Amino acid sequence: MSKKLIKEVKGCFLDKFKVQPLIVFSPGRINLIGEHTDYNEGFTFPAAINKGIALAISKSNSNTSNAYALNKEELYAFKIENLKPLEGGGWRNYVLGVVAELQKIGKQIGNFNSIFAGNIPSGAGMSSSAALENSFVFGLNELFDLGLTKNEMILVSQKAEHNFAGVKCGIMDQYASMFGVKKSALLLDCRTVESRAYKINFKDYKLMLINSNIKHDLSESAYNDRREVCEKVSELLNISALRDASKDDLERIKTDITDEDYQKALYVINENIRVKKFSEAIKKDDIDALGDLLYQSHEGLSKKFKVSCKELDFLVNQTKTNPNVLGARMMGGGFGGCVIILLKKAEFKTFKKDTAKQFKKRFDKDCSVYSVKLSQGTLLIK
Ligand code: GLA
Repeated sequence: MSKKLIKEVKGCFLDKFKVQPLIVFSPGRINLIGEHTDYNEGFTFPAAINKGIALAISKSNSNTSNAYALNKEELYAFKIENLKPLEGGGWRNYVLGVVAELQKIGKQIGNFNSIFAGNIPSGAGMSSSAALENSFVFGLNELFDLGLTKNEMILVSQKAEHNFAGVKCGIMDQYASMFGVKKSALLLDCRTVESRAYKINFKDYKLMLINSNIKHDLSESAYNDRREVCEKVSELLNISALRDASKDDLERIKTDITDEDYQKALYVINENIRVKKFSEAIKKDDIDALGDLLYQSHEGLSKKFKVSCKELDFLVNQTKTNPNVLGARMMGGGFGGCVIILLKKAEFKTFKKDTAKQFKKRFDKDCSVYSVKLSQGTLLIK
């Protein structure tokens, strides 16, 4: 949670609207392992982080609603009836999407004023969009007494992303942001949408995130294309999702599909296995086993599932010769964003400096380095 952000948003709200708002903080997320498995009803291992969106919101008697994006200094006034996604609407579509999806499930809301600000680097693959959706659905649920459970709320957020941002995402981001547990990662079963929290202690190691600062646009068709491929293969296998496929099953239909599609489905099957191995290693406190799984995950994402890019591959590859690094992989949807690295705590500073230098030399661009704390999910700030 970021106290500074909350103070800023609250101060700005009081200035503009002169009433005490309700304040919600909704975090971004990282993902230890289990990428592109969520929409295959498989397993992921995400965690909420101490960066997120702070939202101040209150009811309004006027006949329009206001949303103000403090970072961008953009105000949007809108009517809450007959909502449609806006062409190039950016952040507005997440807000509109949440309102519209609440209405679709029969929830009545009135007009509201809202101001939000965030400190999740955008395009980094740390789910600033899920944090934004969750902050609004949580705030509106509270404000208008809608009586939704957290599980119902994240489905509203996910639908907002599908129908207003055009990304057919899985449930991982919204889940992690809503249900995060302090100092823990969540082994999430994306079929039952239930998780188990694992206390995370990497001992002499810690997580580093390096943002390539290459901006991926998830609504770019590539993400939805991957999902379609997975669904096509499941259909051929006569199962509801790749979660139920084994390597033998896939082998049987190998000649009926392209090699590209075969490799993609194989990646998903293997990644699900890796998530289980990773969580077992955490349970046994076997830190050494984690690195290899991270590298394997990256290899699959890059060579089989094909969602990496040269900058991410470079960042992962340059860790391989470094004895202080246990493992690394790209994180999130792909096509830019971050890599997640598990490295010796004591080497953090040196590694950060060296990597920044090498990245600059290779791409003539700056990368950004972050460390994060695993934190609790969406909450009301009293
Ligand atoms: C994005 C999506 C998630 C998930 C990841 C890849 O973050 O929003 O649902 O599919 O990509 O693991």
